[in-house]
Amino acid sequence: MSEQRAVKKMRLDAFLSRAGRGTRSEVRQLIRRGRVLLDGAVCRRAGEHVEGRAVQVDGDQVVAPADSLHVVLFKPLGVSCSHDPREAPLVDGLLPAAWRRLGLQMVGRLDRATTGLLVLTTDGALLHELTHPSRKVVKRYRVRFAGRLPADAAERCAEGFQIGKEERPTRSARLEVEATDRATIHLREGRYRQVRRMFRRLGVEVTALHRDRVGDYDLPEDLRPGEWALLEEEDLERLLRDSSL
Ligand code: URA
Repeated sequence: MSEQRAVKKMRLDAFLSRAGRGTRSEVRQLIRRGRVLLDGAVCRRAGEHVEGRAVQVDGDQVVAPADSLHVVLFKPLGVSCSHDPREAPLVDGLLPAAWRRLGLQMVGRLDRATTGLLVLTTDGALLHELTHPSRKVVKRYRVRFAGRLPADAAERCAEGFQIGKEERPTRSARLEVEATDRATIHLREGRYRQVRRMFRRLGVEVTALHRDRVGDYDLPEDLRPGEWALLEEEDLERLLRDSSL
């Protein structure tokens, strides 16, 4: 968990996106269309590394984006994602104090009683890409519950249903029931306490909830509750990759 690892290689598409030239898919189109030059020559490889090289889009020099900080944290039980000291213990307290002024933002909060994969970033474009409803990044939750799930629970999750007073039904989700008290659910959205509310609607009570995957990125196995690690460029790629439902 060394802060030295913050210095890392950056791909051309990530560089352009961070420099405000569009989302990953938009900048990849620019690259494919031959509108991007690397050291004066057209570069059509989105994965090309850019350190120390001149990047131009349509003849315009691209200024290097400020270094961003991306972190994965294993959120422990009982810790709040709020910034309000009255809600302590807080996620903020698990991170180096020196980071407090950097504007780290959480990508999809977890409630106090939920554990697992929490991503934090100072990069507004990445935050937007990971949370914007149109991206539909898949989140995987391991669920323990009390009560009997109805036989058609998986079909109902796949179809979507109303929760609380919200008019819009839930988006299609994949539910795998593994035992009478254990299931996995894959969601493409992140509404307030969504898993707990969906399970309650299905007639059971969630007793433990753990998020262990976002996109194609798994919570690292060597991370213990309360520990964090810096995310590498390839981790960001995985987070953004579509893992189908
Ligand atoms: N669903 C919940 O109910 N809680 C979380 O923290 C995340 C998803």
